[in-house]
Formats: sequence, C-alpha cells, structure tokens
Amino acid sequence: MRRPLIAGNWKMNLGHADALRLADGLFAGIDVPPDRDCAIFPPFTSLQAISEKLRSSPIRVGAQNCYPEPDGAFTGEISCSMLKAAGASMVIIGHSERRHVLGESDAMVSRKVKAALAHRLKPIVCIGETLAERDAGRTSDVVITQLRRGLDGLTADAMRDVILAYEPVWAIGTGKTATPAQAQEVHASLRAELGALFGKPLAEDTLILYGGSVKPSNVDGLMAMPDVDGALVGGASLDESEFHRIIWFEAPEG
Ligand code: PGA
Repeated sequence: MRRPLIAGNWKMNLGHADALRLADGLFAGIDVPPDRDCAIFPPFTSLQAISEKLRSSPIRVGAQNCYPEPDGAFTGEISCSMLKAAGASMVIIGHSERRHVLGESDAMVSRKVKAALAHRLKPIVCIGETLAERDAGRTSDVVITQLRRGLDGLTADAMRDVILAYEPVWAIGTGKTATPAQAQEVHASLRAELGALFGKPLAEDTLILYGGSVKPSNVDGLMAMPDVDGALVGGASLDESEFHRIIWFEAPEG
C-alpha cells in the first residue's frame, strides 16, 4: 500500500523572514489528511529554523540537495550529516535544474543517493526528459537510463527508502503539465523497470511522484492515475492556499 506524498520544493525562493512566515502559515493553517504525507523543502538557510518550527506538525522538512562526502574542502557544499543535524529527514537529488543548470551527472546523483541513505535521509530522486527528447520519441530511453544510473548498486533493501519523482523538464515552471495519461505511461514504465531491477514487491511499494506545474486545477486528475503516488510541487508550494488544496487532492475511489 503506497501512502501518497505531497512535497513542496521552494527552490531558491523566499528570504528567511518570508520563509518563516510561510512555515508559520502552514503550521497554523494546514491540516494533512491522515491517509497521506506532506513535506516541504526550504532553502538551506531556513532549514533548521523551519524544522524546529514544524517539529510538532505532520509536515516533514527536507533539503533540496546534498554533497556525498562527509566533510572537507568542498566550498559551498553541504553534507548529509549537516542536513540531518539541521532537522532534515528527506533530500531532493538530481532535480532537473541541478542537472541542466549546474551540470549534475547521473554518476553524481548515484553518489548522493548512497550518501543520503547512509545518513538515513530519504532521497527523492528526480528524473525526466527534455522537450527535444520527448519529440524525438526518446522519453522512455532517457528516464530509464537516468533511473538505472541513479540507482546503480543499490540493493532492494536500500531501495525501501528511495522515492522517485518523474519531472518532465518541459513541464517544470512552464505551466505545461503532462496530461494524466502521459504521466501514467511514464510512471508505469518506471515501475516495470523497478520490478525488473529490484523485484515486483519493491516496485509495488515504491512511491513515484509526478512534478511539473502541478496546481490545484490539475492535481486531482494526476492523482487519479494508478501509478502516480504524489506530487513534487514547485511554484504552487509557495502559496499557502494553493498548497493546501493540493494536499487535499481528491483521493481516487477504491
Ligand atoms: P513547478 O516545479 O511546480 O514550479 O513546475 C516543480 C519542480 O521543479 O519540482
């Protein structure tokens, strides 16, 4: 049984005062239905304060990135143990902005996933194709290759703590969402690949989130798909009432 997760990726938005204001609003105003989970991913500079604020709330707090080494001369980077100490319980890895703007490779994604798991941080591993790749009919190839490389060397047991997020690059921040059918098609192929790599029981238990312009207006249709287990929400997670409505997506019947 997969428990849906709605995750809010704040990206590089909100100065500390605004971040605290939004966290206060979520703490005071957001109730999370008992059949699902919710997490937010503020910028590093607000992580500790927000995780303290939300300690007694059902909303979990995670980081947007990590570095795989435990410590040392890696100027500007943050280790998994630092994130843990700041109160994070999850970490987003391999977001398309990191892959495309900062040149993050599948090999680096794989190192980060292993480091996160070693520190008991749940990784949300992001994969997705560009518009050119989709137009060339390469969606499946691209996402399956990213999945295989990003999860390289993991055991089925380690995989129990891994969450996947399918985020088509052309849908992120553009207002163009994948249709529920497009999302379902990719999610089903990812689950089949997980089954081939790690066995069917693991594949059936793994959460696969959809991300890319998820809004109150489209979340119900996406969440009605059998292989869509939640959402990674960017822009709409910065608006308390939109995020609240997304958390309260209408659960499919049955
Ligand atoms: P968006 O971002 O909802 O603003 O498209 C999603 C994401 O990048 O995680």
